[in-house]
Amino acid sequence: MFSQKDIARYYDLSESQYRFFWNLDKSLSLHYGYWDDSTKNFHEALLNINKVLSAKAAISKDDKVLDAGCGIGGSSIWLAKNIGCSVTGISLSEKQVNKANALAAREGVEHLAGFEQKDFTATGFPSDSFDVVWAIESVCHATDKSAFLKEASRILKKGGRLIMADFFKKENLDGKDAQQVQQWAHGWAVEDFSTKEEFEKQLQQAGFSDIRTEDASHAIMHSAKKLYRSYFIGRVLGFLYRFINRNPAPQGKKNIDTAWLQYKTLKKNLWKYLIISAEKN
Ligand SMILES: C[S@@+](CC[C@H](N)C(=O)[O-])C[C@H]1O[C@@H](n2cnc3c(N)ncnc32)[C@H](O)[C@@H]1O
Repeated sequence: MFSQKDIARYYDLSESQYRFFWNLDKSLSLHYGYWDDSTKNFHEALLNINKVLSAKAAISKDDKVLDAGCGIGGSSIWLAKNIGCSVTGISLSEKQVNKANALAAREGVEHLAGFEQKDFTATGFPSDSFDVVWAIESVCHATDKSAFLKEASRILKKGGRLIMADFFKKENLDGKDAQQVQQWAHGWAVEDFSTKEEFEKQLQQAGFSDIRTEDASHAIMHSAKKLYRSYFIGRVLGFLYRFINRNPAPQGKKNIDTAWLQYKTLKKNLWKYLIISAEKN
């Protein structure tokens, strides 16, 4: 099982790879993005998911938003700049939180977007204090996803919205399929992915209704392929790093393998990328 320290460490060690392969400094994004007919390039796709999710959750400038698992703050800063709402971002990584606060200041939105090192399953925020809980590719890390949902339900006001985008494995996987999906998950410090069915049940149990699920796998396919292609570059760079340093790059080999696995398993329909919205009863 991955501890909170393991997850934070995974992100801290992987930062340079995200910077190299994922345009991190410009996009501030640690997610797949969302490609639609009007998307011209990767950078646009990375930002586009913010547009898609904020529209689905009808976020307005009067909303108080929690960005649960905020990375280096890309979505929070986007929301503050483009919608003008106030956002609190939380991450397990102190390094990410410090970076996010510095980026919010650089972008002139520190009065709207602030970041703290906290666990989204036990935030310590008062009950009924947020209008929206937002989570992109972060809830997958929770070993017990219902712990996140219970906490989201507690801190949301009545009628508050949950909006998230994440990976969900196909039901009843077995054999090599199950093994490949698990190997990918573990490479990203994820214990296991939920299935859509299991997660929807947990949403209801946590007090959510009006649950809407959209399969957005088609909208991440370009990014999944781009990540897959980086596998080959990563192999060469990994070889050079080992050759020069006589040591493997930290987290390097695992991230190279996951780049291959995530695409192969997506092409085999072993998982889906879902956008889920729900309302607190
Ligand atoms: C793939 S990154 C996504 C970051 C951001 N949502 C984005 O789209 O750029 C996953 C994030 O979830 C955070 N995370 C994972 N488990 C968490 C937990 N229990 N509490 C708070 N943050 C968590 C990690 O620290 C990391 O910042």
